[in-house]
Amino acid sequence: MKEKLQDIQKTALEAIKKATTVAALNEVRVAYLGKKGSLTTILRSMGQVSPEERPVIGKLVNAVRNDLETSIASKQEQLQQAELLHRLETEKIDVTLPGRSKKLGQLHPLTQTLNKIKDIFRNMGYSIAEGPQVETDYFNFEALNLPKDHPARDMQDSFYITSDILLRTQTSPVQARTMQAHNANEPIRIIAPGRVYRRDDYDATHSPMFTQVEGLCIDKNINFADLKGTLLFAMQELFGKNVKLRFRPSFFPFTEPSAEVDISCVMCHGKGCRVCKNTGWLEILGAGIVHPNVLRMSGYDPEKVSGFAFGMGVERIAMLTYGVSDLRLFFDNDVRFLQQFHL
Ligand code: PHE
Repeated sequence: MKEKLQDIQKTALEAIKKATTVAALNEVRVAYLGKKGSLTTILRSMGQVSPEERPVIGKLVNAVRNDLETSIASKQEQLQQAELLHRLETEKIDVTLPGRSKKLGQLHPLTQTLNKIKDIFRNMGYSIAEGPQVETDYFNFEALNLPKDHPARDMQDSFYITSDILLRTQTSPVQARTMQAHNANEPIRIIAPGRVYRRDDYDATHSPMFTQVEGLCIDKNINFADLKGTLLFAMQELFGKNVKLRFRPSFFPFTEPSAEVDISCVMCHGKGCRVCKNTGWLEILGAGIVHPNVLRMSGYDPEKVSGFAFGMGVERIAMLTYGVSDLRLFFDNDVRFLQQFHL
């Protein structure tokens, strides 16, 4: 029995010495000290030992067990230390390397401008309306008091899908669509943002595709003063409290009277510069009092209600807001340009 124990002790110590990983060491522990380990088996067979020998053998078993346990513990510590060192060696990070910055996206400057315009009008009680970009001749022209051979159609040549369906040349068709979706003479306060298309050049100030925001307000007793007040407030929100408005008489078939609206130049504040071509003013939108024919065609009674409408170009407003001199930059999708703009 004694020799057997000494034998176990010897081979166990050797196995502990040979273990090169914590996992391998654990296998040794199980093989000798585990439930079915060789030392445990010996303990179980103590019954066969004679009573005189028992205390001696018992002592020896405990001594061997203690010896193995301390050996395993110190070996384990040694192995863990080595494994840690190894990891520190191999998983070294170079903290002097430049960091990897997160690429943060942001809204396109046109979207930012559009969002700001929407907010301004939402705060005045307007809701957002939308219409299709592929529009019928009826809504794009007829319902806006532009019959088939009206000369004003010439200014808005478009891309025709059939002779009756075209890419809309303006957001004004949403005026008629909105009225027709309402009960007769029901008050309306909407803006209609969206893309429009015209046969046009592609240069620093023109594009065959651009963005407009239409506005329509209909109620009892709406007059030109309401239009002026609304637009002045909106332009001050967009360009600052010092901006001034100028209304020049103009013509649109769907408004009467009609006006082209200018703002005082945001670059030189009216003194005259390159941007305003020394006039001190910048043309910014078209507007007017909704023509009685337009109201009538969409089921509204011009004797009972009246309204104003306006249409503004979003690219132009964005160019003035950000000081961009070439409209095409908005459509080139060059991130170096786009990421410069935060409203
Ligand atoms: N639709 C006109 C244009 O595109 C602008 C406008 C809208 C004028 C509403 C008057 C009223 O030029």
